[in-house]
Amino acid sequence: MRRDCVAIQADLLDFTSAPSWQPAPMALHLGADADGVRWRPAHWLLIDGGVIVDVQAHAPPEAFARIDHRGRLLTPGLIDAHVHLPQLGVMASYGTQLLEWLERYTFPAEQAFGDADVARRAAAVFVDALLAHGTTAAMVVPTVHRTSVDALFEAAQSRNMRIVAGKCLMDRNAPDGLRDDVVHAERDCRELIRAWHGRGRARYAMTVRFAPTSTPDQLAMAARVLDDHPDVHFQTHLAENHDELAWVKVLFPEARSYLDVYAQAGLLRRRSMFAHGIWLDDTDRRALAQAGATVAHCPSSNLFLGSGAMDWRAHEAVGVNVVLASDVGGGTSLSMLRTMADAYRVQAAHGHRLTAFKALHACTLGAAQSLQWQDEVGSLDVGRMADVCIWDWATGSVAKQRDALARDLHERLFAWMMLGDERGLVETRVAGQCVHGR
Ligand code: GUN
Ligand code: ZN
Repeated sequence: MRRDCVAIQADLLDFTSAPSWQPAPMALHLGADADGVRWRPAHWLLIDGGVIVDVQAHAPPEAFARIDHRGRLLTPGLIDAHVHLPQLGVMASYGTQLLEWLERYTFPAEQAFGDADVARRAAAVFVDALLAHGTTAAMVVPTVHRTSVDALFEAAQSRNMRIVAGKCLMDRNAPDGLRDDVVHAERDCRELIRAWHGRGRARYAMTVRFAPTSTPDQLAMAARVLDDHPDVHFQTHLAENHDELAWVKVLFPEARSYLDVYAQAGLLRRRSMFAHGIWLDDTDRRALAQAGATVAHCPSSNLFLGSGAMDWRAHEAVGVNVVLASDVGGGTSLSMLRTMADAYRVQAAHGHRLTAFKALHACTLGAAQSLQWQDEVGSLDVGRMADVCIWDWATGSVAKQRDALARDLHERLFAWMMLGDERGLVETRVAGQCVHGR
């Protein structure tokens, strides 16, 4: 038996395309492939050298060590499309909306990351916390300090984890210790790209915090670096809060809209990830769709900070990619299950019914496709890295009772998503290796 040949038996669920807004009727005990949902109950996932090499109903060959997770759910590892490294300690800060929240809680927390030891310790805690919530890949915002980026990539590399991140650019409207300048920031970004982009599973993202904290010169610099590195990503915040929108209007009077600030700077691209995207009009939506850019919906953060209810269907109607993100510490949990549950609540406020299939797709295959990582992660296809999670269908007597009443797959998955969280996570595997176990 070879040490790195493993076969896991569980209820396998993943996606082959985006599901619709109607839950496909699928029987609990029969395998099926419908409306983009691929359901293979009590199947074997075969892993060799960290890669998925087969999925089958019958028992694996002798060479594979067998792991019995029968009666449990196995999904691709979850992808958090927008989360802040320095903000674990900012979660659950009372009583403010975005701009005051940044000044009072968030910026002070980020100032500490100028110290390399603080950054290193925090990065190790952060990536382990992601794994302990079932998140195996993430798009992360560190701080303005270059050391925070090195610390994050080092921590991720030692766990063989897929992370995209980049130095947070801020050259105005931020307190001492959190501002850079265009010349030094450009040098740092170019050096960090050379050091990390494409090294193992690390990828770089030019990271503008948001338009108010970057001068037009800095936005132009970000676009210049992206022109030189077309496979580097871009991430920022967009149209989250009313006071933020009013401020952007004052700072960029010539822009038609908040999105237009980024568009005019050359930052609206296929690999651009915009967190929030709540307060947009149809012209903005069409521009996002035309560029092939993505909106990271952050429902938990939007509820907590009272930012507003992003309209997923309006985005999708014109072809904007929508994925899901915790946005911790505006968000109140790293759990993508809680994020999915909050997305259901926010969409319900619009009169839409987000299916559990659609929600789970958005943090697996959907996110992987948006980030152009679908050849590596996001599904249980043969040839993908074995980044997977194994979940109990329910935790505790109340959720177990609800689970037992589920009559079809969607009903069961919806109860799992609405009532579950990281306590139901049995095991997280990255490239086949167990990196978190209960
Ligand atoms: N806009 C600018 N910075 C931030 C941040 O750290 N969190 C959130 N939610 N929005 C922002
Ligand atoms: Zn954010």
